[in-house]
Amino acid sequence: MRMVDVIAHKRDGGELSGEEITWFIREYTAGAIPDYQASALLMAVYLRGMNRRETVDLTLAMAHSGEMLDLHDVAPHIVDKHSSGGVGDKTSLVVLPLVAACGVPVGKMSGRGLGSSGGTLDKMESFRGWSSQLTLEQFKRQLAEIGLVLAGQTAALAPADGKLYALRDVTATVDNRALIAASIMSKKLAAGADAIVLDVKMGSGAFMPTVEAATDLAQLMVEIGQDAGRQTVALISDMNQPLGHAVGNALEVKEAIETLRGGGPADFWEHCQTVAAHMVRLAGAAATLDEACRLVSAARADGRGLAKFRQLIVAQGGDGRQVDDLSLLPTARYVEPLEATRSGYVAAMDTAELGWVCVRCGGGRLVKSDEVDPAVGFLLPIKIGDYVEAGQEIGVIHANDDMTLQQAQRDVPAAITVVDHPVPPRPLFYATIGNE
Ligand code: URA
Repeated sequence: MRMVDVIAHKRDGGELSGEEITWFIREYTAGAIPDYQASALLMAVYLRGMNRRETVDLTLAMAHSGEMLDLHDVAPHIVDKHSSGGVGDKTSLVVLPLVAACGVPVGKMSGRGLGSSGGTLDKMESFRGWSSQLTLEQFKRQLAEIGLVLAGQTAALAPADGKLYALRDVTATVDNRALIAASIMSKKLAAGADAIVLDVKMGSGAFMPTVEAATDLAQLMVEIGQDAGRQTVALISDMNQPLGHAVGNALEVKEAIETLRGGGPADFWEHCQTVAAHMVRLAGAAATLDEACRLVSAARADGRGLAKFRQLIVAQGGDGRQVDDLSLLPTARYVEPLEATRSGYVAAMDTAELGWVCVRCGGGRLVKSDEVDPAVGFLLPIKIGDYVEAGQEIGVIHANDDMTLQQAQRDVPAAITVVDHPVPPRPLFYATIGNE
């Protein structure tokens, strides 16, 4: 087979065969196909699309490009979750310990921030000494011992996705339905989950701008999961404003701990409870979603979720005292108010831009080698539909230098549209797919 023929086939709108797809993934992972030819194929796929059969073949080829984990020797039934990425999305920090506290083992591989979206590993590294670098043996031992483990994606799992994702990021080929579905599902299949809850975001801070596009992507991923014998449910959730109030690594950790303690923003808790309940129900620990919600709430109310979170921090080398005393987490030098520039109702937020404000403050990476500053970011307790007065404090910026502080004080209000007429609040969820 010649790569130039595979590229031309897709460029001209053809349907790639299973052999072509498997060959491409095998040879590209092995380093036998150069990035420039892989980029050309990605762009052809981006422009021409892939049908369901091609996407399934691509997913399976990517999943099998490395090791396929089998965790059944340490836990009978593993659940996993995956968010398609968002701003202020610290859901895993609350959901994983609550689900584990309900007796359902959770072994999760997470990622770092990407573009304007935050990443769970960057947030967790706000804890002194906490490490996501676990060997497979350590991963399995911790899963067996405490029922909860959170690690970085290892190079051994779905290596084709690691290579292709880095290429997509710099060739403007990320936001394509088939490529996103194959990327997410190949990692989930390789990581050995029996049941998967997908949190597919739509809106101004998500890859998918509309409910229709997000539903289309979710449907495809649910079908891929089910075809591969994994119970898969997808929730379509709103990302037209940050989730909760906090954006920024340590600020989000604090909000997650406050939520595990029984407080935290109402929208964030409802989101976490719903995702966790779906995981508990899929694992068979509850017969209905209502029962699963009650179990999850009880695990929060009696402190088991928080205790499990502390166990996770300590098991991976972190300082458990930072869970009990939030003042021990990183704090920024400047903590200054954000003010509304005009009076009216909050109608919209440019959520991706809000994510970029945090990145520019140092809370994310502009280039791969950037160090992340865990202390910076902002708290924005206003929501779409709220009324604000000109000059009113609408949030608080946490910055470590004068220039980014001033930029953020200008850029956050500029990303918020305020109008004269009342605006309805946004729903948290739009649909559930694959809820058999
Ligand atoms: N998250 C992923 O893991 N892959 C994508 O392509 C998009 C979001």
